[in-house]
Amino acid sequence: MIKKPRGTEDILPNDSKIWRLIENTAHEICAKYGYKEIRTPVFEDTSLFSRGVGDTTDVVQKEMYTFNDKGGRSITLRPEGTASLVRSYIENSLYANPQPTKLYYLISCYRYEKPQSGRLREFHQFGLECFGSDSSATDAEIITLAFDFFKTLGVKDLSLNLNSIGCEKCKPKYNEELKKYFSSHIDKLCDTCKDRLEKNPMRIIDCKSPVCQEVCADAPRMIDYLCEDCDSHFNQLTSYLDKLNIKYAIDPNIVRGLDYYTKTVFEITSDALGAQSTVCGGGRYNGLVEELGGKPTPGIGFAMGIERLILILKSQGIELGESLGPNIFVASIGDNASLTAQKLVYDLRNKGLWAERDLCDRSVKAQMKYANKLGACYSIVIGDDEVLNNKASLKNMGTGEETVVELSCDSIYNIIKK
Ligand code: HAM
Repeated sequence: MIKKPRGTEDILPNDSKIWRLIENTAHEICAKYGYKEIRTPVFEDTSLFSRGVGDTTDVVQKEMYTFNDKGGRSITLRPEGTASLVRSYIENSLYANPQPTKLYYLISCYRYEKPQSGRLREFHQFGLECFGSDSSATDAEIITLAFDFFKTLGVKDLSLNLNSIGCEKCKPKYNEELKKYFSSHIDKLCDTCKDRLEKNPMRIIDCKSPVCQEVCADAPRMIDYLCEDCDSHFNQLTSYLDKLNIKYAIDPNIVRGLDYYTKTVFEITSDALGAQSTVCGGGRYNGLVEELGGKPTPGIGFAMGIERLILILKSQGIELGESLGPNIFVASIGDNASLTAQKLVYDLRNKGLWAERDLCDRSVKAQMKYANKLGACYSIVIGDDEVLNNKASLKNMGTGEETVVELSCDSIYNIIKK
């Protein structure tokens, strides 16, 4: 038997209703905040991610699904959404609209990671990006949106962790300090981090190797090297969050796994998730639009993992989506009644009801057993007599009560809809 690829999941009908509810909630919340949906291709030119996400990140160095297409172009399945949105923002001149441009997306992403609970090779994100505002009010707004979304779904006990990783003015000085620090501990670093020391020392702080993490514990912290602009931006953000009553912790170790970030970075975590505790991550990227060929434009966004969100919902016992059965099951005996049943089911569906009939040549007894299994609210049995008299008995499956009705869509509909 051929099995699904490692690190992927089938979303079966029982779960797909949870997915739809999450997606609908995302659409509703985004509409309230003025975010518009955007859809971009599943694959992009590889250079979009090596330039956008950064070629010293784990995502680019180790995790991308990259291949040459038949035309010899290097193509990559998107490992995340931000770089694609920046490309689309530039390519479609979305900067010509009144700014800021607020966009959201529900996408699948692909990363060649070691699969475990909450870590997949194909996973899904609800994310958003806001282009054209450097105001910390925007940082506060997207964090509020994320919490509004979680609250609507009933998710509890989340923690917001914040940091600022500076800008092109203050980062170079900090990087020099980091280089000095890590050079004095170079023997203890893993090979990848030894390589990162010259190119991008901040990446070392994000290394998952326990030895590197031990070295990082005493490394200089970016938050102590912020320039005046970054410092006041960060302080304004915390004032907004205080005013909005959103609790947060400042965590100087958050650097995020992608290279484009500047100023604010944040992660929302849940203890329910275990090792992969981050359900939502995001931050500012004020240099990325320019890096990818656009005019200097500030940007900020976040993305949350839908599979991780579902793990939290399940562990907190949050039931989403009712599993009601059909409004009515129409059973039939004989060919003539079968024609009537087919037409009745068709008419009831046109009225917006979920109507079912037997499609497997079952006996009438087996049809009723099937109606019960489906959880039908009403049932009706049609035989030759019922067709002849144009009357049948409509049964409420919950109470057992039976009502004789005219065998017409309207009279059945009027009772069911009461
Ligand atoms: P990220 O932290 O790489 O950020 O991913 C965001 C979220 O996607 C994570 O917090 C996690 O919930 C989920 N996620 C990531 N990798 C996996 C995986 N292998 N399996 C399951 N879930 C996963 C970004 O992707 C940025 N683009 C976020 C952003 C938007 N920053 C600014 N704008």
